[in-house]
Amino acid sequence: MIARNILVTSALPYANGSIHLGHLVEYIQTDIWVRFQKMQGHTIYYVCADDTHGTPIMLRAEKEGISPETLIARVHAEHLRDFTGFHIAFDQYYSTHSDETRHYAEDIYQKLKAGGLIVTRSIEQLYDPVKNLFLPDRFVKGECPKCGATDQYGDSCESCGAAYAPTDLKNPYSAVSGATPVRKASEHFFFKLSDARCVDFLRQWTREGNHLQAEAANKMDEWLGEADENKLSDWDISRDAPYFGFEIPGETGKYFYVWLDAPVGYMGSFKKLCAEKGIDFDTYWNKDSTTELYHFIGKDILYFHALFWPAMLVNAGYRTPTQIFAHGFLTVNGEKMSKSRGTFITAESYLQQGLNPEWLRYYYAAKLNGSMEDIDLSLDDFVARVNSDLVGKYINIASRCAGFISKRFDGKLVEGEDYRLLQQEVDEHFADWQPGVIEVAYEARDFAAAVRHIMRRADEVNALIHTLAPWEIAKDAARVRELHRACSLGIQMFYLLSCYLKPILPRTAAQIEGFLNLSELSWQNQRAGQPLSSMLLPPGHVINSYQHLMTRIDPQQIAALIAANQQTMQAAMNTESYSLQRHGEAQQSAIALIADTISIEDFGKLDLRIARILDAQHVPGADKLLQLTLDIGSEQRTVFAGIKSAYDPEALKGRLTVMVANLAPRKMKFGLSEGMVLAAGDVHGGPFLLTPDSGAQPGMRVK
Ligand code: MSP
Ligand code: ZN
Repeated sequence: MIARNILVTSALPYANGSIHLGHLVEYIQTDIWVRFQKMQGHTIYYVCADDTHGTPIMLRAEKEGISPETLIARVHAEHLRDFTGFHIAFDQYYSTHSDETRHYAEDIYQKLKAGGLIVTRSIEQLYDPVKNLFLPDRFVKGECPKCGATDQYGDSCESCGAAYAPTDLKNPYSAVSGATPVRKASEHFFFKLSDARCVDFLRQWTREGNHLQAEAANKMDEWLGEADENKLSDWDISRDAPYFGFEIPGETGKYFYVWLDAPVGYMGSFKKLCAEKGIDFDTYWNKDSTTELYHFIGKDILYFHALFWPAMLVNAGYRTPTQIFAHGFLTVNGEKMSKSRGTFITAESYLQQGLNPEWLRYYYAAKLNGSMEDIDLSLDDFVARVNSDLVGKYINIASRCAGFISKRFDGKLVEGEDYRLLQQEVDEHFADWQPGVIEVAYEARDFAAAVRHIMRRADEVNALIHTLAPWEIAKDAARVRELHRACSLGIQMFYLLSCYLKPILPRTAAQIEGFLNLSELSWQNQRAGQPLSSMLLPPGHVINSYQHLMTRIDPQQIAALIAANQQTMQAAMNTESYSLQRHGEAQQSAIALIADTISIEDFGKLDLRIARILDAQHVPGADKLLQLTLDIGSEQRTVFAGIKSAYDPEALKGRLTVMVANLAPRKMKFGLSEGMVLAAGDVHGGPFLLTPDSGAQPGMRVK
């Protein structure tokens, strides 16, 4: 075997959203491939990072009253937690907001500039005159120029599907402030993709060297056009302040567009790993590198990875990707993931509901074939396949045979003459196992074919066990040797199947290593002319007692998962539509009815006081609460307030608000709450803490 040196990436998820089951298609796909390659003995590094820059992240941080750095640090921890929960084993999970990424982004930019591939041009864009901000397409809303539907985004209409420019919208408004946008010109920087050095390179790169899947190469042909056309336009790589990102060297108030530094994040993350592990960065990235570089991505971002990225790299003197592996999009029950149907399922909720991450890994593996086709998570099929194939066929082999081995044979598998008989049986019954087929399928990312092959083999093992019927033989004391052989055979075949499933089921594999008393399940390759029986555990191998490896899915767990995501969505909608609130129309339908009339005496019972927030802290274990220490002049109070979703504790310290000072204290799980602070909120957003006008002092009564 020739050992390969491989660097693998998955796309960098945006730092302003949660990981959901759609994302996981990609990270699970990549992780399985990486684990497979590691089992082949290759040197392979898997790096990823959060994609942290851009206007949406800047605005989201502002809305939460925290700095973008605080926001991306929080999301980084959440993303890493979710990925780890699904056993995604990155060698490095970093951030594009890093010195390393800045270094390579500037370096590439400067090399392109020195090569005459950066030009500037003045362009007109929609501008929010209240926020003093150029508006990305998605932040302009208005009426569709084609069908008149209201509240449509600046790039396309969700009602009729029309695509257009934000300047085409009728009655446009800024989704940030509600203000009517104005056109404003500014100078932008462009990467000259239309230059012959890019176009000629891309034409050649697309057609030679198998860099792209056939479907992707066809797309590229479409984008590149005929040999005598030049269909590529220059790429706008700058954004004006205010922006969260890297400032362009030598300019003021001009930033790299997020997509300029995002793929550079692959280099940044790897650089970080190199520093930690003493790997030589240049071996992997210099233009003559003999190492392999693979990018796993979704089909929606092919344009960035197959056009801009290789063109940037080659013209800045770096190596280009060996191959780009694009996958399709996830649908749930045949439809786009939907928040209202509860099928927009977050990774976090899946784990919180107690579902086994390996169920999903197995199901995705069974569906992924290395193409760009969409893949469907049919929830009924998910339950059926996991229960019947994974648990019913595979796990079941071990659970049927292990008990006898422990109870009747002290955990010892057959040896001596019986081992030779077992070997004969194996070669007779499983002459056609072809583990090589599994290897080829994994390598080609056709995990579906690998799983089909493995499950057919599991069927054969089950069929043989069924014929041998150890549970029958066990009743006859005279047939003890037969019993021992039948059960040993089951365990031996379970062992082989487990080696091949390990990239998909790493956690179960680790448990099986314990059960089979092995330091490691390693890949079992069948060389030409080598019988399957030579790949078995040695004679007389001793195993440990069987502990339950995997349960079946209870369909009720799926129902609970859907319900949980419907609830979460309500909360998510609250924050999402907050920015649109100031636009009058969006508000009308949702104003709650006014409550029953009360008397002035009723009102007088409330003792409302101005309070200063002396301290605000997260409450360990509480999802919604912050612990506030309030100064109300005469005394200090501790209050647990359900405002964590909207406020960073640091930002609250020192500010004034209003509290109900005569509310009966309430004992909560986390301590005693001595009152309540006042905040506004409804389906459109909140909570928004009340603040008095300046001059108010802690302890003043609010009447
Ligand atoms: N930040 C960019 C990628 C920059 S890479 C230099 C981005 N982020 S993303 O969070 O929107 O998506 C991350 C990856 O997940 C992308 O490859 C995307 O295609 C994939 N998916 C996001 N939703 C998906 C589905 N519903 N189904 C399958 N993959 C999906 O794009
Ligand atoms: Zn329309």
